[in-house]
Amino acid sequence: MNIENFVSVNQLSNDEFWELMALARNLKQDLRAGKSQLILQEKTLGMVFLKPSLRTRVSFEVGMTQMGGHAVYLGPDDIKLGERETTEDIAIVLSRYVNVIMARVFDHRTIEGLAEHASVPVINGLTDFLHPCQALADFFTIYEAKRELEGINLTFVGDGNNVAHSLIYASAIAGANFTIACPEGFEPDEAVVEEARKSTEVNILHDPAEALGDADVIYTDVWASMGEEDIAGEKKSRFDGFRVDEEMIKKAKDDVAVMHCLPAHYDEEIAQSVAHGPNSVIFEQAENRMHAQKALIALLVNN
Ligand code: CP
Ligand code: NVA
Repeated sequence: MNIENFVSVNQLSNDEFWELMALARNLKQDLRAGKSQLILQEKTLGMVFLKPSLRTRVSFEVGMTQMGGHAVYLGPDDIKLGERETTEDIAIVLSRYVNVIMARVFDHRTIEGLAEHASVPVINGLTDFLHPCQALADFFTIYEAKRELEGINLTFVGDGNNVAHSLIYASAIAGANFTIACPEGFEPDEAVVEEARKSTEVNILHDPAEALGDADVIYTDVWASMGEEDIAGEKKSRFDGFRVDEEMIKKAKDDVAVMHCLPAHYDEEIAQSVAHGPNSVIFEQAENRMHAQKALIALLVNN
């Protein structure tokens, strides 16, 4: 893999994307088979979190342990990025200790700043704009469920947010057809859509019913993301009709895969019965975060 940092999925070539998928699959199989995976011995991952996390923190930390390395968690109150110390200085200092940095931040420019100033690889663990590690795990999960990615119809029902943006970029690389059904005013970023449209189909609709019949995958995420707590109530009123529930799933193919990056709000964007139902691959997605990220770290650090 030729990239130095992983800030966005659209940095990957098609070959690099498939190299990652293949290594993730091998690491997952080897783990299941109980084979040793000590490919990152004496390597340390620094994890900077300005927002909460279950999956990202645990999957990165456990992944490092499984590969013989170690992870250091730095929470919002530990280093106070931007308050106690500049992004630039944190990037320089962390690079003196650790072999790779993963950060979850608010402003996308913060991750770009870390990547610019760090001398070790920087991985985007979510910004307000993108969630690329999620998209890697999601496409790995779709491939496991459907045995192909090219031509797959991925329908996202909900907010044109960070998760949607990274899924759009991944769709462009893998040749999946991306459709979003969102309320007016909650469309994904135009520049992301325009870039992806050079390689694949991206449809923007405002009625979920129009997007369900052809869907191989129905994906949803929270209506209000971390950092949007003050507008969550207002947003909720705009997303009436965009809940992925049993009625919605009935309008799709029998074998449609239902996806959600989690955490879920079962009284809002998805019914618990659907998230835990027969079409759901949501908990495979959560597990696959670890396998996909282990592949990513190994390729970034060992290259
Ligand atoms: N999907 C995801 O990134 O989960 P966390 O916020 O718990 O890390
Ligand atoms: N869009 C959500 C994803 C959480 C993993 C958020 O940013 O809060």
